Amino acid sequence: MCQIHLRVELTPLNSYQAGFLTAELESLTTIGETRDMMKQYTLNEFGIDQLTRDEAPVPEPGPGEVRVAMKALSLNYKDLMIVEGSYNPRLKFPHVPITDGAGEISALGDGVTSVTMKQPVIINPMLDWLSGPFRFEYHKRVVGYSVPGLASEEVIVPEQAVIPIPEGFELTDAATLPTAGLTAWNCLVEHGGVEEGQTLLTLGTGGVSIFALQLAKIIGATVIITSSSDEKLKRARELGADHGINYRENTSWYKTVMELTNGEGADLTLETSGAQSFEQSTRATKANGTVAFLGSIEGLKSEIDLRFVMMKRLTVHGIFVGSRNDIADFGNFLSTHPLKPVIDRTFPFEELPDAMTHMKSGGHMGKVVVTV
Ligand SMILES: NC(=O)c1ccc[n+]([C@@H]2O[C@H](COP(=O)([O-])OP(=O)(O)OC[C@H]3O[C@@H](n4cnc5c(N)ncnc54)[C@H](OP(=O)(O)O)[C@@H]3O)[C@@H](O)[C@H]2O)c1
Repeated sequence: MCQIHLRVELTPLNSYQAGFLTAELESLTTIGETRDMMKQYTLNEFGIDQLTRDEAPVPEPGPGEVRVAMKALSLNYKDLMIVEGSYNPRLKFPHVPITDGAGEISALGDGVTSVTMKQPVIINPMLDWLSGPFRFEYHKRVVGYSVPGLASEEVIVPEQAVIPIPEGFELTDAATLPTAGLTAWNCLVEHGGVEEGQTLLTLGTGGVSIFALQLAKIIGATVIITSSSDEKLKRARELGADHGINYRENTSWYKTVMELTNGEGADLTLETSGAQSFEQSTRATKANGTVAFLGSIEGLKSEIDLRFVMMKRLTVHGIFVGSRNDIADFGNFLSTHPLKPVIDRTFPFEELPDAMTHMKSGGHMGKVVVTV
């Protein structure tokens, strides 16, 4: 523990100065505090009920690394697939899950200069994808999948993995940005180039889809959204969606999309569902338009009639989150455009398995968040 010497000038303080001094002293005390053990979730075999919350030693950052005291985790469909074993049946145990989160810097390794103690940050899950085009080897170091995840009170990551949270964002909201928000951003802006007056079709009302809806409305695009629930479609309209289609009741939903777009189709379709709906997505997309393929909820294999990819001269764009630079660009955009992430429900850390069960039920709309 370091010693702190204070020289106190005996001048009367006004209430603002007194408050400021108290806060500074509290912050010095917290920085000086150390604890040896922390809580952490690990998985030793597949299944939500196999998640165990144990004590683990608080890790120390090495050179070029930082420690982050996690404050909020946000769940993605991928976390559920990892925990249940459908993402990678050969996952190595024990595994610490969860890809997305936000927290405050709690220790700095040697040589770290870009962040400061207590700074609020989000974590880029693709540790090696800093900028430029995607490379396949980037899958080797993905937080919560190929390297330990964030379901811990304290985590260690390389300095370049942390990014200051966008101005005005609370930590719970910021935690939703690195995967769901960034994926929507990349589909629409970095790659999709959606413009005012164009039409976005997005499938379902999960995390990515709701971010896509919100971004499209900021851009000035028309939004068609699908859902299994009329209640969720009503809420999506309140968020700005122009049209909603219940894909359970209207199983040939592409026909409705064509009607709504004067027989032309959507300029960009976010295919979040997977192979089962891919053909309908190509039918619902405009000639020369784009299908951003990013999801696998309904699986990756199906017999598909690919004729519309060719006949409509479509671009099928595989999307896999984004780089650190993309997160920074997205953060800059958010600093000047009002977008409040839609959080369906927040659970405490002790109830992380319940949060996963809630997500699995499909009852949510937008994001499910866990506070640490
Ligand atoms: N490639 C990437 O970089 C990337 C990044 C993030 C997510 N993803 C993928 O994108 C998908 C969505 O992820 P998420 O985190 O947003 O999931 P999520 O929050 O769990 O949302 C999933 C939603 O999809 C809808 N859905 C389920 N079955 C559907 C179907 N047959 N057709 C249309 N919609 C269906 C449901 O919406 P309703 O309740 O409204 O029906 C459900 O709530 C997942 O496959 C995930 O792995 C990929």
